[in-house]
Amino acid sequence: MTDWPRGVGLRRYDSIDSTNEEARRLAAAGEQGPLWIVAREQTKGRGRRGRTWVSNIGNLFATMLVNVSPPASAELGFAAGLAVADTIVSNAPGAAVALKWPNDVLLDGKKVAGILLEAVGADALAIGIGINLDHCPEGTEFPATALKSVTGSAPGAGEALTILAGRWCAWYEVWRSKGFAHGLRESWLARAAGQGRQIRTRLHEGEMDGVFEGLDEDGALLLRRSDGALMRITAADVFFPV
Ligand code: BTN
Repeated sequence: MTDWPRGVGLRRYDSIDSTNEEARRLAAAGEQGPLWIVAREQTKGRGRRGRTWVSNIGNLFATMLVNVSPPASAELGFAAGLAVADTIVSNAPGAAVALKWPNDVLLDGKKVAGILLEAVGADALAIGIGINLDHCPEGTEFPATALKSVTGSAPGAGEALTILAGRWCAWYEVWRSKGFAHGLRESWLARAAGQGRQIRTRLHEGEMDGVFEGLDEDGALLLRRSDGALMRITAADVFFPV
């Protein structure tokens, strides 16, 4: 049985609008973290780029509230991705778990978890994590899956959160001691989906295709276009193969 990490707070809710929104409220009230906020269901769960995150009972909806200033925030999304991947692997040994830039986790090539980073105060970051343990939405643009559909069983949300909280502490410590470029980047790339392959990125201003070459010092995606130019992508949706 995994222990809850020492010195890390936990607030549980039966039903809430969004655990990221609760992190924002708590930060405004002076909460500094580290604190996990978890709910059995969310009534206004949100995803990246203004999308809705369907949040019915059975899956994990949790937010880590951490005291960190903005330049480093995006880097912590990679620590969270690694922690989520470890959590999935520990419940699906041998399954194909991969990380999709910037913050998705794939199981058998389909999205099993998503991460939403939001600055919720000058030095406060909410790292919202949704893991499809029991079920997944249908008809999503990028195909989704649930742990239970792949393995036949899934842990409860409480059990999954305890594993996640432990793995988060471990990867946060790697980031704190070595930084992104020397600590997290290699581990993240070792699990990356699509590296070295042709991908499509959807940016705010349109689409751009190219070969996913790797990650820059700060986590930006490096895309080699067919004209030879190396582009730094800092925000996009990724699709593959093209
Ligand atoms: C994405 O892939 O679009 C990110 C999804 C993030 C969902 C989680 S569930 C817990 C937290 N609260 C929210 O409202 N969103 C995040």
